[in-house]
Amino acid sequence: MNLIFLGPPGSGKGTQAERISKLLGIAHLSTGDMLRESVARKTSLGQKAQEYMETGELVPDDLILGMIEEKLCSGGWEHGFILDGFPRTIRQAEALKKMIAKNEKEIDKAILLSVSDAEVMRRLSGRFYCPTCKIGYNYPMRLPRQKEHCDFDNTKLVRRPDDEITVVRNRLEVYKRETAPLIDFYRKELILSEIETDDGPDKVTEQLLKEIGKAKKSDSYKDRCPN
Ligand code: AP5
Repeated sequence: MNLIFLGPPGSGKGTQAERISKLLGIAHLSTGDMLRESVARKTSLGQKAQEYMETGELVPDDLILGMIEEKLCSGGWEHGFILDGFPRTIRQAEALKKMIAKNEKEIDKAILLSVSDAEVMRRLSGRFYCPTCKIGYNYPMRLPRQKEHCDFDNTKLVRRPDDEITVVRNRLEVYKRETAPLIDFYRKELILSEIETDDGPDKVTEQLLKEIGKAKKSDSYKDRCPN
C-alpha cells in the first residue's frame, strides 16, 4: 500500500501518518522531518533548506527530489509507504511517478486532509513539542501535566519556528498556490479521496482506515483501467 497524505499545514498529515504507518506496518516518509533533521545536523542540504523553511517557502524541487530519491533508493519501504508532505508541486508529483514506476510500483491512493484556515491557525498556534523526546503537545487539546514541560523527561517545551503566525500565513498561501493544484492532478489519476479533519484525530484515523480498506480490496490498476 503506497499512500500520499496531502493537505495544508496543520491538517494532521504527520499525526495520521505516524498512526497509520504503525497500524499497517508500512514506512512513514516525511520530507519536513527529514529536512528538520538535516537543519539540526547542519548538513549542506540543511544549510540550503533552512532559510526557505523559516519563511514558510518551499525548498527548491531539485533539493527535495535528490533527498527523496536517496531515501527511496536506501530501501525500507518494500511493504509500502505513506508520503507526508511530499509531493508538494506538480514537478515533484511527476518525478515521484517516474521514480516508483522504475521499481514497478504505483501510488494506490492520495488522501486529502481538509481543514479551514482558521482551524490551521488555532492548531499551529497551540502546537508545542519536547526537543528531547519529540513528543507533541497541543493547547488546549493535549496539555502537559506540568505547565510548558514534557511529561516524560521534564524538558521545557518549544515551538517550531515556522509556527509563528506570519510564517503560518505564508505557508497557507504557498500551499494554495503550489500544492493545491495536486488535488486536480490526483483526481485525474482517479486515486484522490478527501477526509474532513474537524472531528478530532481519532475520528480521522477511523475514516482513513476505512478509505484505505476500500483501496486494499480493489485491484487498483484494473479498477482504474478496466479495458
Ligand atoms: P512540513 O513539516 O511538512 O510542514 P506542513 O506540511 O506545513 O505540515 P505540519 O507539520 O505543520 O502539519 P501536519 O499537516 O503534519 O499536521 P500535524 O499532524 O503536525 O514542512 C515544513 C517545511 O519544510 C515546509 O514549509 C517547506 O519549507 C519544507 N518542505 C517540506 N516538504 C517539502 C517539499 N516536498 N517540497 C518543498 N519544501 C518542503 O498537526 C498539527 C497540529 O494539530 C498538532 O499539534 C496536532 O496535535 C493537531 N491536530 C492534528 N489533527 C487534528 C485534528 N483532527 N483535530 C484537532 N487537532 C489536530
